[in-house]
Amino acid sequence: MNSFKETEILPFSSGVSPDGVLQINGHSVDELIDKFGSPLYIYDEDTIRKMCVEFRENFCNHYENSHIEYSCKAFANPFVNKIIDEEGLFMDVVTGGELAVAINSNFPPNKLNFHGNNKGKDELTEALKYGVEYITIDSFAEINLLNSISEDLGKFQKVMLRLSPSIDPHTHLLTSTGILDSKFGFSIETGDAELAIKQTLDKSNLILDGVHFHLGSPIFELEPFSEAIEYVISFCSEMRDKYSFNLKRFSPGGGFAIGYKTEKKPPKISEYAKVISDSIKMSCDKYSLQYPELIVEPGRSIIGRSGVAIYTVGGIKKIKDVRTYVSVDGGMGDNIRPALYQSEYSVISAGKVNEERDNLVTIAGKFCESGDILAKDVYIPNPEVGDLIALPASGAYNLMMASNYNMQTKPAVVLIKSSSEPPYLISRRETYNDLLRLSIFE
Ligand code: LLP
Repeated sequence: MNSFKETEILPFSSGVSPDGVLQINGHSVDELIDKFGSPLYIYDEDTIRKMCVEFRENFCNHYENSHIEYSCKAFANPFVNKIIDEEGLFMDVVTGGELAVAINSNFPPNKLNFHGNNKGKDELTEALKYGVEYITIDSFAEINLLNSISEDLGKFQKVMLRLSPSIDPHTHLLTSTGILDSKFGFSIETGDAELAIKQTLDKSNLILDGVHFHLGSPIFELEPFSEAIEYVISFCSEMRDKYSFNLKRFSPGGGFAIGYKTEKKPPKISEYAKVISDSIKMSCDKYSLQYPELIVEPGRSIIGRSGVAIYTVGGIKKIKDVRTYVSVDGGMGDNIRPALYQSEYSVISAGKVNEERDNLVTIAGKFCESGDILAKDVYIPNPEVGDLIALPASGAYNLMMASNYNMQTKPAVVLIKSSSEPPYLISRRETYNDLLRLSIFE
């Protein structure tokens, strides 16, 4: 395979054809666009599977009693759910909608965990009826609601509590979730966590097995994990002493970073695994607690690298001495991340991979907002109408946060299963009829 600068952030199977076209596992992206239209999201099955194995092996090597729980908010799709199940991973959902995708993909209920800071009665009832193994409770109201639903259904439901350790993971404020000023989790600092443990232990139909926290996402540092683990485990030992709370299951959440820009490399999965495992063991030893089952919840780091977004260039606007805008046929509708979090992406001119990148441009979307910019100040070869533009590391969150702003249809999604099999459409392009179906015209 030809190697180029983005090799480490593209799917593992990426390459370049002899005429300079980006390929995903032997499939040239220009042919995929001819077949499925533009814009297009391409997912590589090999990369998803490799990431599952990478997580499983690294965590098991460092901590025998560990499980990987894919956080499907990053990309919820029946085909992906099937891969996740086949690779032996658990999964978490955060809404009745994600649960519906899981149920309709026959995802085993005994491998499901239901998160969310405001689950409704219908959502919880549906989850219990399906037999979801764990519910992670995130409010005092939910402790009461879930207990009464469990009583009504004659069930004893295993639960975890989401705690907030007041630790800053130094990521974007909008994706920081474990600081004091957060809507997520029972705060240890304020005493809410203790009260929640006490109340849950007192409930007739809830079985409290463990605690969870999630610091934020993406986290490029290791230190916040070790700091939070030590703090939460010391809290659990206090709860054991006061209320005989038995910590059987422990989750430090997800949030593991991936490479978006070639210059900003994330830690290796093995480094996250080591620091998390060592911190749990050290803290448990310190407080004489038995090692709990460890659950980690990667979303982005399982699916992000496998996905590449491909757009087609339309208008090119050169403003002398100011900027060249290269407009593509997607944008904030399928990827709100740059506008919302100032996320940065690498850009590849997918049909001109071997050409000199000597033009400084800004890749703009097609939506009616000046903030609809996919990538600011990037170098690509001379841009021309009809060029294909690839944004690597587009597999996580983009499509899940997609909107129909400007009544724009959402792109199709294809899965590359292998080099010898045809590409597989796993989500068809929206049509105008899809957009119109909910409107009432008379
Ligand atoms: N577990 C919990 C409880 C979470 O809230 C999240 C993400 C995860 C696991 C998975 O985090 P990951 O491994 O994917 O980083 N829309 C934002 C990301 C929001 C993440 C929300 N929670 C983005 O596009 O960057």
